[in-house]
Amino acid sequence: MSEVHVFDHPLISDKLTRMRNKTTSSQDFRLLLKEISLLMGYEVTRNFPMTQKTIETPICEATLPVLKGNYFTIVPILRAGIGMVDGLLELMPFCHVGHIGLYRDETTLKPVEYYYKMPEGAADSTIIVVDPMLATGGSAADAIDLLKSRGCKNIRLMNLVAAPEGIKTMQERHPDVDIYVAAVDDGLTEDAYIIPGLGDAGDRIFGTK
Ligand code: PRP
Ligand code: URA
Repeated sequence: MSEVHVFDHPLISDKLTRMRNKTTSSQDFRLLLKEISLLMGYEVTRNFPMTQKTIETPICEATLPVLKGNYFTIVPILRAGIGMVDGLLELMPFCHVGHIGLYRDETTLKPVEYYYKMPEGAADSTIIVVDPMLATGGSAADAIDLLKSRGCKNIRLMNLVAAPEGIKTMQERHPDVDIYVAAVDDGLTEDAYIIPGLGDAGDRIFGTK
């Protein structure tokens, strides 16, 4: 069974409440999402693989910890996942970025794939899939199916807000993928919006409604 890491941090909770407020502008929404993503990055990367490297400090030679390899891939689920990329890149500018395009069909509520592009060698890298919203969990679970069908193994999922239903779907379909989330909300509306949630993340990031 995968682990669910829920962030309990005053800075993250305060910023998230500001994002949820319907009067928050797209400009502020994007900035807050970037800041939260950066803060969440510290915890998401906590168990990244490490190795030892011998260096010369100004005082002496020392063997000290460094990240093992520098091949890490951030994979936003388009569109809204794009809003979480810059914060993580600020923390880890050496990361590569892949993209998976999925949208939820408004009638069936099922994800539809329209784009897939991964950097070369991604299958052997540590992958962080990012998407602000985990509602039914269909989009995240399908995106991770696509990655696994191309040989990716070491995958973790980072969301801003999750519904219990989305966590259940993920744990059933991908028990090997740990989930990192700023808040677990109460549930879903009839048309699968998260309650209380923050509305349509893509529309709020890009100002499309
Ligand atoms: C949103 C969100 C997730 C998905 C979550 O994307 O960014 O990808 O819905 O819902 P689910 O867990 O029920 O699958 P949307 O389909 O609205 O596309 P967009 O990012 O292009 O706005
Ligand atoms: N997608 C969103 O953007 N928001 C929700 O509440 C659910 C799915």
